[in-house]
Amino acid sequence: MIVVLKGGPSPEAEVSRKSAAAVVKALKNLGYKVLDLELDENIAKNLLKLQPEKVFIALHGVPGEDGSVQGLLETMGIPYTGCGVESSAVCMDKDATRRILKSHGIPVPAGETYFSPEEVNWIEIPCVVKPARTGSTVGISIVKEEKMLTEAVNLAFKYDRKIVIEEFIEGRELTVPVLNGKALPIVEIIPESGFYDYEAKYKKKTTKYEVPAQLPEKTTERIMKNAEKIYRILECKGAVRIDIRLDEMNVPYVLEVNTIPGMTERSLLPKSAAAAGITFEKLIEEILKG
Ligand SMILES: Nc1ncnc2c1ncn2[C@@H]1O[C@H](COP(=O)(O)OP(=O)(O)O)[C@@H](O)[C@H]1O
Ligand SMILES: [Mg+2]
Repeated sequence: MIVVLKGGPSPEAEVSRKSAAAVVKALKNLGYKVLDLELDENIAKNLLKLQPEKVFIALHGVPGEDGSVQGLLETMGIPYTGCGVESSAVCMDKDATRRILKSHGIPVPAGETYFSPEEVNWIEIPCVVKPARTGSTVGISIVKEEKMLTEAVNLAFKYDRKIVIEEFIEGRELTVPVLNGKALPIVEIIPESGFYDYEAKYKKKTTKYEVPAQLPEKTTERIMKNAEKIYRILECKGAVRIDIRLDEMNVPYVLEVNTIPGMTERSLLPKSAAAAGITFEKLIEEILKG
């Protein structure tokens, strides 16, 4: 039996339950015996009782995307989908991700890490202020005027003890999925507000997508090659999605790696897979087999 793990206390629990519903449906269609399970304080007891062959992790945000649930499953000896403990924890942390990618020659926006508001000595405007370890644009601000910086810093520190301030990359918004080591078609996100936030991601219908993104051939090649390299050096597994800003010179700056991307039919990764001729069911089976 396959257990699809969903929900939990994460601010993204609602999205997770939607992903889980789509995953359960696909696995049933594929002929698997499936059960969906809510992540709560009884999780270990429930897993012991169910004895699944494998857990399909459909959690988004923390806990789940940060390696904690993966650690529990490792301890219990239950196989699971997607990235392992260390890879999940590193990708959850935008500061750690930036440092590793940079050291491997992958372009990331220029930035600094801070551990208290008093430490902040950033001067470049516009900039982006973000908590190191949250998802879904929670606590992130794009600062366009100097006088807004303090407020943005204080907001980010509400969510984490560590924050990152980056130069604002003017340009296009791209995301590229990698499935079991192979890059899938690049998606361009064209939001009406110019800022791809939680509302635009999950609620408003005004965001447009272009798959595959219309880019110069060399840029496409560079992004796909970098994406597969990132997957290798961060030791990812299953399906991940890498967020990118492409500047006016067509330099693809990596913002972050999402280790458990949205898995509803509307989500970006399934859209990209479809453009590569991979049906939703096939995609779910590929992730399951990992
Ligand atoms: N350095 C940056 N330059 C321009 N836009 C940025 C930058 N960092 C983040 N953004 C914008 O904020 C969004 C969310 O940032 P991201 O780092 O992907 O965090 P998350 O998706 O976890 O909230 C991005 O999709 C992008 O639109
Ligand atoms: Mg993102």
